[in-house]
Amino acid sequence: MISVRRMLQQALRVSGRSAFPLLKWAEKWAEGAAAGPDGTTVRSLDDMPGPSVLGFAWDLFARRGLSKLHQLQVGALQRYGPMWKASFGPITTVHVAHPALIEQVLRQEGQRPMRSDLSSWKDYRKLRGQHYGLLTSEGEEWQEVRSLLAKHMLRPKAVEAYDQTLNGVVSDLIAKLRLRRHPEGLVTDIAREFYYFGLEGISSVLFESRIGCLEPVVPKETELFIESINTMFVKTLLTMVMPKWLHWLFPKPWDIFCQCWDNMFEFAKGHIDQRLREAAKKSNCEKVKGHYLAYFLAQTDLPMKTVYSNITELLLAGVDTISGTMSWSLYELSRHPAVQASLRDEVLSVLEGRKVPQAADVARMPLMKAVVKEVLRLYPVIPANARVITERDIQVGGYLIPKNTLITLCHFATSRDPTVFPNPNEFLPRRWLTKDQSHHPYASVPFGVGKRSCIGRRIAELELYLAIARILIEFDVRPDPKGVSVKPMTRTLLVPENVINLQFVER
Ligand code: HEM
Repeated sequence: MISVRRMLQQALRVSGRSAFPLLKWAEKWAEGAAAGPDGTTVRSLDDMPGPSVLGFAWDLFARRGLSKLHQLQVGALQRYGPMWKASFGPITTVHVAHPALIEQVLRQEGQRPMRSDLSSWKDYRKLRGQHYGLLTSEGEEWQEVRSLLAKHMLRPKAVEAYDQTLNGVVSDLIAKLRLRRHPEGLVTDIAREFYYFGLEGISSVLFESRIGCLEPVVPKETELFIESINTMFVKTLLTMVMPKWLHWLFPKPWDIFCQCWDNMFEFAKGHIDQRLREAAKKSNCEKVKGHYLAYFLAQTDLPMKTVYSNITELLLAGVDTISGTMSWSLYELSRHPAVQASLRDEVLSVLEGRKVPQAADVARMPLMKAVVKEVLRLYPVIPANARVITERDIQVGGYLIPKNTLITLCHFATSRDPTVFPNPNEFLPRRWLTKDQSHHPYASVPFGVGKRSCIGRRIAELELYLAIARILIEFDVRPDPKGVSVKPMTRTLLVPENVINLQFVER
């Protein structure tokens, strides 16, 4: 074991890369670890570096750290190395910020992994008697719905079948961009347009019908749903770190948080009930065909409350994720016209004169895939994921982590680590296409890995590829001449800090 340590130290020194924090960590690890009876060495959490309780609280609250959590990861990696702990009251969280260590955690996650407590989301459901959906459920309850949905959401053939539906939504997006353009081609606040696009896209898959998000006038209840998602995410971190007794003293954040969830559940229930009424009318004469997911779930033995909560959570998961990734993709492509031109060439050569790509075309667009990978490396929608291993203590990086410890996987830090990705802050999609630049498979995992990974991944990727391809066929996308460079901020998810405006110039 010790010799492995020495080898790691040597390798890091010989590599000559700026592996300073990692080197310091390896040195500390090599110096202080005591050998156990079987020759392996294990340290306890007491030996793990990390900020003091006061320092951590100061960073979080006094320095507006909640919106800079992604940056705090980078700072902590430099200060403490790739594993550190943060304590808040009696709770200690372990942070892991190296691909090999993230792999170690995920390989020990067990059969039914738990992501994190998401305590305030669960508290809301308990308070209102709502059921859990895929994002919030655990154990057998999670497994049952995951297996049902995986058939329709993860099998490549099943997902390909959504391409016509999604292309209809993309056509409306293009029309909406044209409608929203100012005379010189500028569309302001593109993230807003892509929220509507994200919601219409996931609704079309769930309900196989349209809900009007991309109409010139957006229905009021849709506006309310999107506003509720935004506000709920803003309040999530706060309601999770606030002890429950504080809700009595400062009720506003918790009340607003609950009101947002009420609105979201009501929106989803309204749409599901309406679709089921339509289906019931049809079923006497004409069997409901199609493969829309809400109908499929409603036909299983699941209680209707479980159907409502799952559809609510799927709708929620499909909005900010798509909006953020679309916004950053076009933002980066507008600032890198050569990449944009190459990507357009790739799309046009695959389509051979056709105007609308299909799912099968995407397989022949390697640069398109590399662009989206690079965007998600720079701006991972979930900058820090988490796992709680409930079954047993595990060992990671030579430390013994007691069961039930919250382990935060610092994806933003690994994505921006220069020892992992050279020139980490630059948008270089071709890094994903050159074989000599292979990266650790856990260095950038924007959809997660394993049994609990993103169930919407294939649908999301298809939606993104179809939309980006069509936008580039129709428009030359340019930066706002008066625009500023936009940085990300954490709002539970990673989102643009400022409004992004772009020019969509007719081709
Ligand atoms: C760019 C788009 C997206 C990204 C980057 C993304 C990313 C993620 C990540 C990182 C997770 C956690 C995985 C883990 O813990 O290992 C996740 C979970 C999940 N995502 Fe996505 N997502 C995206 C789009 C979507 C869409 C469109 C949907 C809905 C169709 C969706 C539905 C879900 C659900 C339901 C889960 C929970 C899965 C479970 O716990 O079993 N996601 N996503």
